[in-house]
Amino acid sequence: MDRDSTTAAGRARGLARPFHSLTNGPQELGCGGYSLTALAGQYGTPLYVYSADHIIERFGYFERALAGREHLVCYAVKANSSLAILRLLAEHGAGFDIVSGGELRRVLTAAPEAVGRVVFSGAGKTAEEIDFALESNILAFHVESEAELKLLAARAARRKRKARFSLRVNPDVFAETHPYISTGLSEHKFGIEISQARRIYNEARSSRWLVAHGVSAHIGSQIRTAEPFGAAMARVARLVCELERDGIRLRSVDAGGGLGIDYEGSAEFDPQAAVNEYVAAIEGALKGLDIKLLLEPGRFVVAQAGALLARVLYVKRNGKKTFVITDAGMNDLIRPALYQAWHEIVPVRPRPGAKKVVDVVGPVCESGDFFAHDRRMKPVEPGDLVAILDAGAYGMAQSSNYNSRPRPAEVLIAGNEVRLIRRRESHEELLAPELVGLTGAAV
Ligand code: LLP
Repeated sequence: MDRDSTTAAGRARGLARPFHSLTNGPQELGCGGYSLTALAGQYGTPLYVYSADHIIERFGYFERALAGREHLVCYAVKANSSLAILRLLAEHGAGFDIVSGGELRRVLTAAPEAVGRVVFSGAGKTAEEIDFALESNILAFHVESEAELKLLAARAARRKRKARFSLRVNPDVFAETHPYISTGLSEHKFGIEISQARRIYNEARSSRWLVAHGVSAHIGSQIRTAEPFGAAMARVARLVCELERDGIRLRSVDAGGGLGIDYEGSAEFDPQAAVNEYVAAIEGALKGLDIKLLLEPGRFVVAQAGALLARVLYVKRNGKKTFVITDAGMNDLIRPALYQAWHEIVPVRPRPGAKKVVDVVGPVCESGDFFAHDRRMKPVEPGDLVAILDAGAYGMAQSSNYNSRPRPAEVLIAGNEVRLIRRRESHEELLAPELVGLTGAAV
């Protein structure tokens, strides 16, 4: 596939925002110098397109901000669990934050050598998942209840394997974000009340199979200011000091993920400065503690590296509204429907003409199947391509087969190559696990 002749410039711009105008031929949106029109032609739509350079650049912001202190950046697999992206990040030294046995399988498939850099969060781990993670010898379990700690001790004893654990404490700190992705208040299901943590660490000493490794906290996602992270870590730091007085010396503090991005795409947003400020707030709270710092960023690393490409099927008017109906739907990207999330949508080859106010919607049979309401957009016509930007995090990872729609293909632009990292699902694959009543196996 041909690349834009001004590759270097294109790529330099691509790092700031990876989807940018190509400069050869007609005005057109590209990624890493590649034409999105050509990609859609080759791989079909809906199609997720990611920039590997951008992912590595974003990951590097954390590495740079943390240089000079003992640290591990554990990418939150749930944000985008594509094997190729996990491999890419592992090659750059990432650890991984997982929340299920399935995610552990993904890490073991993509980067088995990174298993010693895996932390396992989640409020509902099963005995089987605990066994699998013990067997795999992950770095640490992030334990979210006393009952889970008891189960962990029992499973570790059965296998005669030590289990390193961190309590995930709930610091009871408010962070301004969407209620569905806020986790750090005592009313949320996550973590252990911080006031109980000291007692639980002390009680855990009676098990010879439990090793208190660290403490973790995650207060929510898409948080745009550093202050709540600092407030949460100040409470965690107090706990670390108390435990030290009790003779329990933790080796790590994990500040979770949650740093937000600018979905609005403002020119002033400086991602390295945002990471620096975030890290400074955390480090400020941990001042004086000689302890390893773990972070679990997901969205910040992958969101802006990805776009969902969709083709316009129809443009129609109903009453006062104009609807742009695309071949991508809420099953491919559910964020607008679920969190009223705002994603920028741009025509890949802009047509001349004034912007119009439209609703951009999908083909799924629900009124919640929308990408934008009352959006001012350059005119589009059936057959045109649009790119839904900043869709690299919680896009494909939250996709489904609702309405019996096969999930999109995914391509990764890495240096000079375009790699198909997941082919489009086929209808045969969707039907394969099912049994039709009459011929199904009797149970
Ligand atoms: N660590 C833990 C324990 C988490 O629960 C999460 C996200 C992260 C790290 C990563 O957070 P991030 O850096 O990506 O904000 N589906 C929602 C977001 C859900 C976040 C769940 N937990 C969305 O599309 O906005």
